[in-house]
Amino acid sequence: MVDIIYGKAVAERIRADLGGSIDTLKEEGVTPGLATVLMSDDPASETYVSMKQRDCEEVGIESIHVEIDPDAPASELYDTIDELNDDHEVHGILVQMPVPEHVDSRRVLRAIDPTKDADGFHPENVGMLVAGHPRFKPCTPHGVQKLLDSANVDPEGKDVVIVGRSNIVGKPLANLLVQKADGGNATVTVCHSRTADLAAKTRNADVVVAACGVPELVDGSMLSDGVTVIDVGVNRVDADTDKGYELVGDVEFESAKEKASAITPVPGGVGPMTRAMLLYNTVKAAGIQEEIEVELP
Ligand SMILES: NC(=O)c1ccc[n+]([C@@H]2O[C@H](COP(=O)([O-])OP(=O)(O)OC[C@H]3O[C@@H](n4cnc5c(N)ncnc54)[C@H](OP(=O)(O)O)[C@@H]3O)[C@@H](O)[C@H]2O)c1
Repeated sequence: MVDIIYGKAVAERIRADLGGSIDTLKEEGVTPGLATVLMSDDPASETYVSMKQRDCEEVGIESIHVEIDPDAPASELYDTIDELNDDHEVHGILVQMPVPEHVDSRRVLRAIDPTKDADGFHPENVGMLVAGHPRFKPCTPHGVQKLLDSANVDPEGKDVVIVGRSNIVGKPLANLLVQKADGGNATVTVCHSRTADLAAKTRNADVVVAACGVPELVDGSMLSDGVTVIDVGVNRVDADTDKGYELVGDVEFESAKEKASAITPVPGGVGPMTRAMLLYNTVKAAGIQEEIEVELP
């Protein structure tokens, strides 16, 4: 019988536990604050940012939102980040990606104070992660690690295949799972678009994490019996629905679940975890900056 790993329920538990950490901070006179910066008129980006704001409000994190005209000069964004870096009520800063082409996205990541880097993408935080003592774990990989834990899948000694090598999912996840630490100790293979014979790799895995942005790329024929499947993908595909589309993952769920012992659904799997781990990083950032010890879930 396959175990469907409902990230939504796990995320709700984490958010509830974070409530206790937020109370601790508030008892010390500190309300954690997350600033979201949007320099885009892409509806998907607008939706992501408003979901993050709502999440903050629900758990008692102060949400500060800055919108910048996508046609404004890049300096407006850099100046905004400087101001937020100096604002003591802001503990976490998130610039919604992608930014317009005339903005240097790497400069944006470097401009954020590394102790306020709620996404965990600042080079200093990436370095700390790779070195094995992460300050902020990037939200999606951290969410995947928590999901494995919730399903009692200990990566230690397991062969994990990650399909995708992006800086926001594949690479940081590989670094997390390979660490000599709880929730790590896996043997990790990272695949990408130039991988020869992807199916041969995934068939040898105990755990497959699909994060390639290709709808239903991984199907049951590419998996071995008893595998754990984590589907990070979120893809809109045309469908005969009211909205004219439906969301599918990077895994073909129906055939994959015939092979898997545990599998995440899309939606309701990794997505809610990403959102919960952003709140986690904001609370952690507040603790670091205010030098208050907070217990984190
Ligand atoms: N649920 C969430 O919270 C969440 C968060 C972030 C992302 N996502 C979703 O996760 C997916 C991946 O996101 P991302 O930002 O990591 O994507 P990305 O930056 O586009 O990276 C995709 C990766 O997949 C690889 N790839 C593409 N086609 C492949 C193929 N046919 N075989 C093997 N590898 C292939 C690419 O290889 P190359 O490097 O060779 O190009 C690249 O490394 C997307 O569906 C995205 O929407 C979900």
